[in-house]
Amino acid sequence: MSTYYYSRISGWGMYAPERVLTNAELAAMVDTSDEWIRSRTGISERRIAAANETTVDMSLPAARAAIARAGITPADLDLIILATSSPDYVCPPASSLLQDRLGAGKIGAFTLVAGCSGFVYGLAVAAQFVQTGMLRHVLVVGAEKVSYAVDWEDRNTNVLFGDGAGAVVVSRSDTPGGLQSMVLGSDGADWDALIVPGIGSAQSITHEGLDRKDHKLKMDGKRVFKFATRAMTDAVVQMVSNAGLSMADIDWLLPHQANDRIIDLALRRLGFPREKTVINLDRYGNTSAASVPLALCEALDDGRIQPGDTLCMIAFGAGLTYAGCVWEWQPERVSEEPILISNWPVPESLQSAAQQVRSGMWRMQVQARAKASDAAMAVMLPLYAFRKGVKKRLGR
Ligand code: COA
Repeated sequence: MSTYYYSRISGWGMYAPERVLTNAELAAMVDTSDEWIRSRTGISERRIAAANETTVDMSLPAARAAIARAGITPADLDLIILATSSPDYVCPPASSLLQDRLGAGKIGAFTLVAGCSGFVYGLAVAAQFVQTGMLRHVLVVGAEKVSYAVDWEDRNTNVLFGDGAGAVVVSRSDTPGGLQSMVLGSDGADWDALIVPGIGSAQSITHEGLDRKDHKLKMDGKRVFKFATRAMTDAVVQMVSNAGLSMADIDWLLPHQANDRIIDLALRRLGFPREKTVINLDRYGNTSAASVPLALCEALDDGRIQPGDTLCMIAFGAGLTYAGCVWEWQPERVSEEPILISNWPVPESLQSAAQQVRSGMWRMQVQARAKASDAAMAVMLPLYAFRKGVKKRLGR
């Protein structure tokens, strides 16, 4: 049986930490200036998480807002995808912590690590699940506490990054809209252009490594800049034409907010107007996987994005990775009803009923066997313990 559904972003939410770090404050820390930062990056200020505020802490309010706006509860979620490169711990996955804090069911939850492209990767993955009909509601979060890995003495990186979280619920729908095309890419040849070398299985944590600040972010800015402008332009052209559209059909471009000069160069190459581009990096800096969802949430909240609009999201980041999707914005309430297949063949419907009975019986057999073995263990374990105790007392 094949069914085909459509995807919707049924809810969205964002969170930005309270603390605002201005360019003037950075200029007091390292040899830089507000003028240099604004003219070379377009960034005026960024948000920095509190010392005890984690990526999951920031994900939680964003996710709760997205779930509430979707008109569902955490118990209705079928899957959680948390895109981040700054998890609370290397192990366990941050996604499981989020699942627990949200009070969601024992559903699938995984952390997606694709650098700043992570959220758009997650969106593309979520859309596959709902469009095949396998799942109904998937929570996708892009959240980062990049500041934990920033070397505050390195002016090459400390001016660029910020913290935050954005979340969406991707839901199943039976009317057209949602994901129209996507591009997922990775160029592993440049894996060392943006790297935290000292956390992971490649290198043990040593005093020498800590002295070298190997646990902090290192970046070859020029290499990333070159990759970003090329990848952004190529990916946008590819996904827009894959959707059977041209740039004139795109209502809003939502680019990764890394550097205004990267965005500007891509816009000039694509011949796309800046007025139709969502840019908020002046206030948030580069928030990595949170960057595209923060831009999306702001443009939805202030009414720039309207029903029927075609969006083009494009991100790039560590890996080096890139990811984009063309998304038709149709926000009406999602259908909870299964699709009615008008020409469903009778033999197939009989087969499917038989299959349901078979699998029901099989489930009952497994449950009965599990109960029998639980009962056997409840009897045998005290017996074993008793026998072991007797042997010990007899010195055997
Ligand atoms: N303040 C003042 N001077 C700075 C500075 C800062 N914060 N950072 C670097 N400089 C200096 C450099 O040391 C260099 O000085 P020098 O000529 O004496 O050596 C000079 O400014 C020019 O440096 P350069 O690296 O050529 O600057 P740039 O124009 O390439 O801009 C970046 C640097 C980092 C802003 C730019 O390369 C960039 O944005 N790259 C992409 C980064 C990115 O997007 N990363 C995240 C990907 S997800």
